[in-house]
Amino acid sequence: MKDFKKSVVYQIYPKSFKDSNGDGFGDLNGIIEKLDYLKELGVDYIWLTPIYISPQKDNGYDVADYYNVDTRFGTMEEFESLVKEAKKREIYIMLDMVFNHTSTEHEWFKKALKGEEKYKNYYIFKKGKNGLPPTNWISKFGGNAWEYVEKFDEYYLHLFDVTQADLNWDNKELRQEIYDVVNFWIEKGVKGFRLDVINLISKPSIFEDDNLGDGRRFYTDGTNIHKYLKELNENTFGKHDDIITVGEMSSTSIDNCIKYSNPNEKELSMVFNFHHLKVDYKDGEKWSLMDFNFKQLKELFNEWQNGMINGNGWNALFWCNHDQPRVNSRFGNVKKYHKESSTMLATTIHLMNGTPYVYQGEEFGMTNPEFDKIEEYKDVESINYYNILKSQGINEEEIMKILKSKSRDNSRTPIQWDDTLNAGFTTGTPWINVSSNYKDINAKNALNNKESVFYYYKKLINIRKEEDIIAYGDCKMLLPEHKQVYAYERKLNNENIIVVNNFYDKECTINLNKEIDYNIEKVETLISNYNDKYDNLEKINLRPYESFAIKIK
Ligand code: GLC
Repeated sequence: MKDFKKSVVYQIYPKSFKDSNGDGFGDLNGIIEKLDYLKELGVDYIWLTPIYISPQKDNGYDVADYYNVDTRFGTMEEFESLVKEAKKREIYIMLDMVFNHTSTEHEWFKKALKGEEKYKNYYIFKKGKNGLPPTNWISKFGGNAWEYVEKFDEYYLHLFDVTQADLNWDNKELRQEIYDVVNFWIEKGVKGFRLDVINLISKPSIFEDDNLGDGRRFYTDGTNIHKYLKELNENTFGKHDDIITVGEMSSTSIDNCIKYSNPNEKELSMVFNFHHLKVDYKDGEKWSLMDFNFKQLKELFNEWQNGMINGNGWNALFWCNHDQPRVNSRFGNVKKYHKESSTMLATTIHLMNGTPYVYQGEEFGMTNPEFDKIEEYKDVESINYYNILKSQGINEEEIMKILKSKSRDNSRTPIQWDDTLNAGFTTGTPWINVSSNYKDINAKNALNNKESVFYYYKKLINIRKEEDIIAYGDCKMLLPEHKQVYAYERKLNNENIIVVNNFYDKECTINLNKEIDYNIEKVETLISNYNDKYDNLEKINLRPYESFAIKIK
């Protein structure tokens, strides 16, 4: 059995990973082809974003049938063979479970629309108010969060796209349906679940307007959320001791995350939170441009590391996923310091307390594609916001600049396997354009160069396995006031690991001796993105994006 504290999860967005049959979409057989590659990297779990039958309005997060694999991705037999082939390599499959909503193409919703009471109660239908929707809540993808159904003279709630209808978790019958789905996939040999926006499932008993915000305070970490998660745990994965779970927690708090992930609470193994990925939102607004606030980033990391350790909770550590732009394009410098900044960002999170997640392509430094035309964007949120920003009078050039840096499609471009046509992703026409830098940045080049970003990730993954301090130690921020360095010390028994990261292209000098309050007998360099050794801790000159970890005894 794997210890999830020493494990690393690799996220696959199947649509963009590897196409085995030339239809332009990645598929399960494509993933099987690349298992040896993932074994070489050293990951323990593969999280697959949704592969179920879906109209793909939100790339699979609009599920029409939880029990079957979408033909675009393959067949159930191919899924079973993926589970088997992965297991041979000691890699386990984690599935993405979307239980806040279903597609409006799901048979439950179709029956609801026909007027079947049982299924109407699976969703959230409400009367409007004086010709207006039941509340003024805003959908996460823009616009009002309610859709009118004339036949009933009622509205249904959709916190996301209009084709993603929210489920009514207050209905016990619905909850049982969900348990059945999870147990079905457990039977198939799945060893992990990622629960999509799971902290939004408990809606309030009274629906009221939000005069302070977009409505999220009424349903985020809602009234019955802990009760529902405990019940889900008890009826499904909690019956097995080798299944890990991670909840995607939108706009959450440390207190709630401790509850979600403290083993005594019997809810989930770990949680994703997004606070550190809002440090470049101007006044909290995603669709704006701003340099990242480094001070705030350091404070957030420190708060969450210590808060979760003290509360016996467990974090999922990540920069990248299918909803976030590529981190090296975002907080690094991919033009001048591609390798240095990509590896520095990796060191920063991999050696913290929590379980690291690597998003496909991150391990060899894939970047944002810098699409120039709106036609190149496929994501429903990006297209909605393109229109919203236009209607606010923002000019085309500015909007394209915002999309280039903020769109979710930045991370959804095909994996750059090599320098052949379509980066070796497909022999057909890819569903979304390949980034133009694929001739330089691709997996083949990375594998052929022992100094590449890929081997740096491999080393980081290995350090977690070798050093107990990384999984079980405390975490203290060093040089808290430093304007360009984020450093921290991990501590367990009499051993210490210090991790230093220069977040900028400017050089600087630091003195670590001043930070250390114990006797130093021996300093061992565990990793350095400049291949250096660090013996004199009193004066360390840090080069652009320099990053290293040392072990002190
Ligand atoms: C999560 C997913 C995102 C999706 C949304 C609605 O945030 O990661 O891709 O659009 O939930 O399901």
